[in-house]
Amino acid sequence: MAGERRVSIHGGVVRRPVAPWTDTVHSLLAHLHAAGLPVPEPLGVEGAQEVLRLVPGEAGEQAWPHQSLISAVRSAGSLLRALHLGTRSWVPPPGARWAVPSEGGSTVCHGDPKPTNMAWRDGVAIAVFDWDMARPAPEVSDVAYALYWFAPFDVDEAELRHRHLSKTFDAHARIEAFLDGYGWTGPLDVMQAVADRREQAVKEVVYLGERGHMPHAAWVDAGWPDRWRTEPRLP
Ligand SMILES: Nc1ncnc2c1ncn2[C@@H]1O[C@H](COP(=O)(O)OP(=O)(O)O)[C@@H](O)[C@H]1O
Ligand SMILES: [Mg+2]
Repeated sequence: MAGERRVSIHGGVVRRPVAPWTDTVHSLLAHLHAAGLPVPEPLGVEGAQEVLRLVPGEAGEQAWPHQSLISAVRSAGSLLRALHLGTRSWVPPPGARWAVPSEGGSTVCHGDPKPTNMAWRDGVAIAVFDWDMARPAPEVSDVAYALYWFAPFDVDEAELRHRHLSKTFDAHARIEAFLDGYGWTGPLDVMQAVADRREQAVKEVVYLGERGHMPHAAWVDAGWPDRWRTEPRLP
């Protein structure tokens, strides 16, 4: 899909296209990094590119083998919770801007917490990067989004193989493990929350595409949002 070549990595540093919300995200990342949380240290903006330090571990497509065990899913839940807690003490700069409208509250959600946006070591999630979609929002926003990917929903046999999951994997146990790792207390209608968050994610792609942001505009042109508008299903 579009977007891969927008990111360049050399000498332990990643360069990505700058966006109107980059300064806000860098302020948040600087706060989390200073608190000892595992996110990329923001190094600044150079022309049209933002510059961040690489986090250690295996990331992107290399994430899939790591996330196949239940213990890995639990570790991802714990990490997301730690990051959410860390965002609560951050004070947004005046005129803070986000990729999508703020949903309010004192927690900043990552906005795209999936296995490939985490760095992994030995089946443990050790860092989260790609904070472009961050926005203040209730925690359930990220939890439901992560459950879509970690359960996972909407996977055929080929995709299961790609994600290093056996045909007999237990989606319900993986959902429980994520929520347990996160420390989720209280009720959660997982199917409804995942369906709602999925629909919101599709709308967010359209929102960004209509404003000319890449790669969302390319996804909209290619008709992806309509194909994504299906009821999420567990295998
Ligand atoms: N800070 C980082 N530390 C380690 N790897 C990174 C970092 N940022 C990006 N990468 C690598 O580059 C890939 C693409 O970067 P990402 O920030 O996820 O952008 P996008 O998903 O928009 O293409 C990731 O999947 C990962 O492999
Ligand atoms: Mg990414």
